[in-house]
Amino acid sequence: MDDLSTIRSEALDAVQAAADLGALEAARVAVLGKKGSVTGLMKTLGGLAPEQRKEFGARVNQLKGEIEAALDARKGSLGAAALEARLAAEKIDVTLPVRPVAEGSLHPIGQVMDEVGAIFGEMGFTWADGPDIEDDWHNFTALNIPPDHPARQMQDTFYLPSRADGTPMVLRTHTSPVQARTMLNKDVQKRLADGGSLRIIVPGRTFRIDSDATHTPMFHQVEGLVIDRTTHMGHLKGCLVDFCRAFFEVDDLPLRFRPSYFPFTEPSAEVDIGCSWKDGELKIGAGDSWLEILGSGMVHPNVIANCGLDPAVYQGFAFGMGIDRIAMLKYGIPDLRAFFDADLRWLRHYGFSALEAVR
Ligand code: PHE
Repeated sequence: MDDLSTIRSEALDAVQAAADLGALEAARVAVLGKKGSVTGLMKTLGGLAPEQRKEFGARVNQLKGEIEAALDARKGSLGAAALEARLAAEKIDVTLPVRPVAEGSLHPIGQVMDEVGAIFGEMGFTWADGPDIEDDWHNFTALNIPPDHPARQMQDTFYLPSRADGTPMVLRTHTSPVQARTMLNKDVQKRLADGGSLRIIVPGRTFRIDSDATHTPMFHQVEGLVIDRTTHMGHLKGCLVDFCRAFFEVDDLPLRFRPSYFPFTEPSAEVDIGCSWKDGELKIGAGDSWLEILGSGMVHPNVIANCGLDPAVYQGFAFGMGIDRIAMLKYGIPDLRAFFDADLRWLRHYGFSALEAVR
């Protein structure tokens, strides 16, 4: 009897006194563990006479239940207290200003490629690409510039060592070889045969032996190509007018189509946009001056045939535009060479934040 009430009050005191979950577990082991006080009482039951065992057993069981309930209750309140303490300690002040994060910026070339891609994307063009190191056939021959053709001198080419099989290699002098690569693609040919159309833009790097304030040996172009059965010069004109007005953000921007010559287009046109100069500053828009920004034309039937399509069935237009050039014009960047100097001060000044890049 005494034994029971002592064990009871000691156990309940220990449970109440437990200051954390570790102490509570120690209190539980002292009572209900293998060598615990209540466990010890249970072990004595076997030696008792049957009536005694029944009566004493019931009381031990009741005690055990009472202590277990106290353990549970204490566990609950210790857990709640621990949570309270964490909430109090980990309070954050949401009114504090954020720490500045060092932010990178987008190079104007990447920004302008994205802008060009977004505008042509809305017109149904998809983005295509090809290798910077190109074979002579794709860069020239497929585009109606055979080996001894004087037009090869129009572009000052970086020649590379030939491939093992003798194929002459170059750094591509324009993005036009991707016209040939795309028309030769079997899936594209199938889509055209099924009555579909081909519309791609090809933004990418190009290379020519040239260097001054407006020329660098590596520069960027965006090629455009549309092929189907009905596209004509009117579409070429409409497409480029729409593009230039959207890109330069001048709704009534005048365009001038000048007859020109490229071996891979017939007829060919160079395209100028209207502008004016005031106090040495350039303004894009209707004015008394013109700036040349791209070459274009109807794809030459020889090119269509060289790429495995029937020129009696398929036709379309192509254009090639200098990305660096339109970037300089739109964003007032005076020297092309600075684009490729990797000068952080220049990039911080002319670069774009990534958020502005999404149009
Ligand atoms: N490839 C030509 C150049 O680099 C531009 C061009 C492309 C002209 C497509 C007509 C058609 O000068």
